[in-house]
Amino acid sequence: MARILITSAIPYINGIKHLGNLVGSQLPADLYARYCRARGDEVMFLCATDEHGTPAELAAAKAGKPVADYCAEMHEVQAELARGFRLSFDHFGRSSSPQNHALTQYFAGRLADNGYIQEVTEKQVFSKADDRFLPDRYIEGTCPNCGYDKARGDQCENCTKQLDPTDLIDPRSAISGSTDLEVRETKHLYLRQSLLKDDLAAWIDSKTDWPVLTTSIAKKWLNDGDGLQDRGITRDLHWGIPVKKGTQDWPGMQGKVFYVWFDAPIEYIAAAAEWAEANGKTEADWRRWWRTDEGAADVRYVQFMGKDNVPFHTLSFPATIMGSRDAWKLVDYIKSFNYLNYDGGQFSTSQGRGVFMDQALAILPSDYWRWWLLSHAPESSDSEFTWENFQASVNKDLADVLGNFVSRVTKFCRSKFGEEVPAGGSLGTREQALIDELTTRVAAYQDHMAAIEVRKAAAELRAIWVAGNEYLQSAAPWSVYKTDPEQAAAIIRLSLNLIRLYAVLSAPFIPDASATMLTAMATTDDAWPDDIAQALTVLEPGHGFSVPEILFRKIADEEREDWQARFAGVRS
Ligand code: MF3
Ligand code: ZN
Repeated sequence: MARILITSAIPYINGIKHLGNLVGSQLPADLYARYCRARGDEVMFLCATDEHGTPAELAAAKAGKPVADYCAEMHEVQAELARGFRLSFDHFGRSSSPQNHALTQYFAGRLADNGYIQEVTEKQVFSKADDRFLPDRYIEGTCPNCGYDKARGDQCENCTKQLDPTDLIDPRSAISGSTDLEVRETKHLYLRQSLLKDDLAAWIDSKTDWPVLTTSIAKKWLNDGDGLQDRGITRDLHWGIPVKKGTQDWPGMQGKVFYVWFDAPIEYIAAAAEWAEANGKTEADWRRWWRTDEGAADVRYVQFMGKDNVPFHTLSFPATIMGSRDAWKLVDYIKSFNYLNYDGGQFSTSQGRGVFMDQALAILPSDYWRWWLLSHAPESSDSEFTWENFQASVNKDLADVLGNFVSRVTKFCRSKFGEEVPAGGSLGTREQALIDELTTRVAAYQDHMAAIEVRKAAAELRAIWVAGNEYLQSAAPWSVYKTDPEQAAAIIRLSLNLIRLYAVLSAPFIPDASATMLTAMATTDDAWPDDIAQALTVLEPGHGFSVPEILFRKIADEEREDWQARFAGVRS
């Protein structure tokens, strides 16, 4: 039994995530967590909300709420949606937790003690009306290059010129519009990650089994990007983790907080500590997942994220861990994803374009979405959600193939043999051929799941469902019954067992439908099969079952058209 630590990139607190966000981290992480648990591994699956930073502050202001209240409410909203999508986190934490405060301050102290922190005095724009320093992108003005009047302090969106806030003509605060701005001196901490370049390069080079998407991004930033420039890890904001050196005050840093990208990945660790507190566990119980000197040496740590997150997870966060010179666990495998596009364009949070998690669940149960999203995960390239494709997959894979199999088998059995597994007959060459095919396919399915090849695993699972359907079609128990009821009973007995096997194999993808199938088969035996022939004899003659409610309904053309129009943009 292996021990697997799994984290998904932690979603920003502001706003509800769209399906592209979901399929890029949390959903595939859940698939893998469920698979590992089903195989008997000991799993710790962690996620959290990423609560600090200017966007959270501004969203709270817009909602007219104190930022702490806003975050607490939005955390609950996201937690509820995670439950709705059946994301099986062992803990869904908060980067604003006391545990993350303490750990983030601890890491900063270790980094300082080890010579990886530099104090830098710089000049920054201060807005008196807003009573705060303004990040470059929250200063607006007229572009000196093209005259566009909504250029931001970091870049002009119109002509793409990179700018400094002091370049802008008539600068104003993007928050309040105030022009009462002045340049003030302020001190910040920089993480000297350039000192760790060789260590990071050697570590990344050692990861020969990582997906190309992950290593190509990591190497690009390591070598020719500015990914390893020393970076500021503090900000002049009110909301965040106060800058401290361990538990001590940090002279000159009063009133400042750590940068959100410094504390967010540390929340992966803090979430384990939160898990311990929430579940009456000890310090040692969570540290055995995270400290290689306290039991985590045999843990395999797998992270899931979208491609935009890769630099932070291959360079910055490992630099934090390496620079601490403590025995914290480094990630073993990073599964990254391309983007999911939406119906000929991009998902857009600001324009409300595409389907968001709450809207998806209001339309259809989570399994429908889980199946489509995972079977179309943007692994080797970006992929695209279209309503036509969604309708076709649901109607074909889920309704016609899997759902129809379950309903035909159970209804036929009920009508001819009653609601129990029938006795009699024997298996022949057709059955043996099916068992052989399933044996090969289940082995392939397991290999893809172990390798986190999500689309390939989905395709294999679909082929496993199809094999059962084709078997049923060619064995035709409804005709056999007329001349040889015993033989029809053998076919149906095998088919009822197939339903149980499908429930077990499909659970990581479609957990609710799997549970419905197991309940209908009146069994709690969800043991992963080691031997297909044996797994197809678990339900013995005389074992009761019931005909389940329809597993998956079809999507009608009118619904599809209606949804397509409804989600085209501008969310209220
Ligand atoms: N909140 C970030 C995003 O949604 C991800 C942070 S992952 C972290 O892109 F753990 F590194 F924080
Ligand atoms: Zn311009």
